[in-house]
Amino acid sequence: MERTLAIIKPDAVAAGYIGEIIRRIEEEGLRLVGMKLIHLQIREAEGFYYIHRDQPFFKELVDYMTSGPSVLIVLEGVDVINRWRKMIGPTDPQKAPRGTIRRDMGVSIGRNAVHGSDSAESASYEINYLFKGTDLLS
Ligand code: RTP
Ligand code: MG
Repeated sequence: MERTLAIIKPDAVAAGYIGEIIRRIEEEGLRLVGMKLIHLQIREAEGFYYIHRDQPFFKELVDYMTSGPSVLIVLEGVDVINRWRKMIGPTDPQKAPRGTIRRDMGVSIGRNAVHGSDSAESASYEINYLFKGTDLLS
């Protein structure tokens, strides 16, 4: 059993996709153990994506992630990190297979609707960064 961090990013929230994305999570049988609606502040977004701090797209990424409210979700399940990454598809929605969330709801590589942790180490860092332990179901 493992946990991962999912984010419904500001473009997807603004487009009214919260319900559809949560419906897909429930359909896949992933367990929700934490969820909150939050407008990330610049410092929080910078810290969250600190591994990308030297990338040319870093400022654009932080601007995007702070452009409106996001839904932060902690998911639990067997192999949930890979399963959620498979459901969302690759970073660029135009390269994502049909039926993935990014293909169906993303706009571009810079506005790609959702986030998913890419490893157990990232998941642990990201969940602890954004949630207090007491905010999560046991
Ligand atoms: P995420 O962390 O959001 O789940 O996305 P990811 O693993 O598929 O992609 P990653 O390499 O971690 O990049 C993080 C986010 O940065 C934005 N990005 N923009 N303009 C660009 O070339 C570019 N490349 C990446 C995307 O919003 C990506 O999700
Ligand atoms: Mg990533």
